[in-house]
Amino acid sequence: MRRLRRSLTAKLLAAQILVIIAGSATLVLVALAVAPGLFHEHVREALGIVPEDVSRHLDEAFEDAVLVSLAIAIGAAAVTAAVASGFLAVRIVRPIRALAEASQRIARGAYGSRVPTGGSDELAVLASSFNEMAVSLETAERRRRELLSDVAHELRTPLATIEGYVEGLRDGVVAPEAPTWALLASETGRLRRLVDDLQLVSLAEERQLDLRTVEVDPASLVEDAVRAAAPAYEAKGVWLGTTAEPRLPVVAVDTDRIGEVLANLLENALRHTPAGGRVDVRAEHRGSDVELAVSDTGEGIAPEHLERLFERFYRADPARSRETGGSGIGLTIARAITEAHGGRLRAESDGPGRGARFVLSLPAAR
Ligand SMILES: Nc1ncnc2c1ncn2[C@@H]1O[C@H](COP(=O)(O)OP(=O)(O)OP(=O)(O)O)[C@@H](O)[C@H]1O
Ligand SMILES: [Mg+2]
Repeated sequence: MRRLRRSLTAKLLAAQILVIIAGSATLVLVALAVAPGLFHEHVREALGIVPEDVSRHLDEAFEDAVLVSLAIAIGAAAVTAAVASGFLAVRIVRPIRALAEASQRIARGAYGSRVPTGGSDELAVLASSFNEMAVSLETAERRRRELLSDVAHELRTPLATIEGYVEGLRDGVVAPEAPTWALLASETGRLRRLVDDLQLVSLAEERQLDLRTVEVDPASLVEDAVRAAAPAYEAKGVWLGTTAEPRLPVVAVDTDRIGEVLANLLENALRHTPAGGRVDVRAEHRGSDVELAVSDTGEGIAPEHLERLFERFYRADPARSRETGGSGIGLTIARAITEAHGGRLRAESDGPGRGARFVLSLPAAR
């Protein structure tokens, strides 16, 4: 770092010295070319013809005066240049050093490192973008750790069940009968779904999802999803209705994928709405988008959960959710698929007990 400082100071100083040399050389050349003529002219005008020794004396006096003034000016300029270079070097080097040290700390894994900000010059802008970058890195790193521990946690439960049953079978404690195989199949199925879901989210987030888009009428998307969900709604006794604005613009979507999103929203709405409640699906035109909204009269969502619902494995009520088999990844997938279509998915709720609304908004195709 000392080297950085020295070389920066040296470069700044060299640049200024170059300017001083060019300036002084021009000054000397111009003075030599123009001044003696002018001087002689003035002397002649003032004194007329002067004897040669007086003239030589005057010339020498003039030259000395010019050279001494030039020497003093160049000296003053050189000192100013040295001081200015030193000052600039310190002003520039200190923030750069802080940035270099902080990036080394971050490279070693200390994601909490930040650099001091202040001022409004380019270095201050650099410092605040550096801090923003550090915050994103820190968040990404935290998410990565959470994800790993969540995946481990999610895998543990079905694995423990499978392990228990396999040991039971081996020791003859569990009978090798249909219910045992069904349970083993359901637990391995759960593991398979989890792995598939995680892969789907990764693909969608990396924009690698293979979308087969076609232009469709949004109303038909809603109808299909509602038709598929109707039996489960009927069985639980929750009313399911649709309203579609007439003449909606078409949307360009992969119908299977958007179908999955709607199925997930309808499944969630049913899961969180008690018997006797109602779920409405509305399709309407909003600016350049088409909005498909699933509203329910169910248990609602507290404001602090609203945005977090879309995180992997996030459940507002982990205990209950696990009972019902949800792994908290449905909305993560739904949002990733929606965003892969250039759309947005958001959650709204007036709070616990006051129902929830999930709005899928897709850009109109034409
Ligand atoms: N309509 C709703 N009303 C109230 N809470 C909801 C609603 N939809 C989702 N939630 C909350 O959001 C959480 C996350 O939903 P998400 O669909 O991601 O996971 P899940 O339904 O628990 O599991 P799965 O992965 O099987 O979908 C749910 O656990 C629930 O707490
Ligand atoms: Mg779900």
